[in-house]
Amino acid sequence: MKKKLLIVNGSPRHGSSIEILAEQFELGFRSVIADVEVTNVRLNDLDIIPCQSCGVDPRPLLCIYKDDLYPYLEHLREADFVLLASPIHFDTVSSQMKLFIDRCNCFRPPKFENGKAVFDNQGILSSKGAYILVGGEREKYDAAERVIGGFFIWCGITKTGKVTYSHSEDRLGSVKRDKAKLEESFTLGAQCANELTSQL
Ligand SMILES: Cc1cc2nc3c(=O)[nH]c(=O)nc-3n(C[C@H](O)[C@H](O)[C@H](O)COP(=O)(O)O)c2cc1C
Repeated sequence: MKKKLLIVNGSPRHGSSIEILAEQFELGFRSVIADVEVTNVRLNDLDIIPCQSCGVDPRPLLCIYKDDLYPYLEHLREADFVLLASPIHFDTVSSQMKLFIDRCNCFRPPKFENGKAVFDNQGILSSKGAYILVGGEREKYDAAERVIGGFFIWCGITKTGKVTYSHSEDRLGSVKRDKAKLEESFTLGAQCANELTSQL
């Protein structure tokens, strides 16, 4: 059966190391699963309403705001695998990626019983996921990993792996010259696809 891969790119830059590493991941994934439908979204191209903490149960929708992001929330619900790829901005994921993550809050909408929030698990996903983080010389990924880790738990996504890359050059797409890193991302893509097929 056809598999669905969603790649969420949180970089504001075309030709970024993020984009290059995500491409390598996709190639690795496709090397194992040829019959894959890939949806690649560059969050920077979308007009995204930040989560308004509206407190409204959106079901049967995934969010009450039907903006540019909404179709990708549907892709997320249906994806067998999701890759989040983000630069590090002020120690965490980019603001583009944070907008996306916050808008997934209603994958798990609470019901209120006797004034207490009781979580309804109907919206929980059962997919797998991985992430790619690119930062400067500081090599600090812990805050971003906590954000993505929390998002995975919230949405029921099992973490399958990660690639981190740090560099000291300001040149766009510097990872192109780091063959080992390109290979690491390709290999992660292949491993993640293998994990999906071994479930069958
Ligand atoms: C607003 C902003 C904040 C940043 N903050 C950090 C940071 O806290 N730590 C870090 O290591 N790099 C930081 N950087 C550097 C980027 O993570 C780095 O340029 C990275 O290469 C971006 O990924 P890309 O090359 O794929 O676009 C920051 C860059 C920007 C634009």
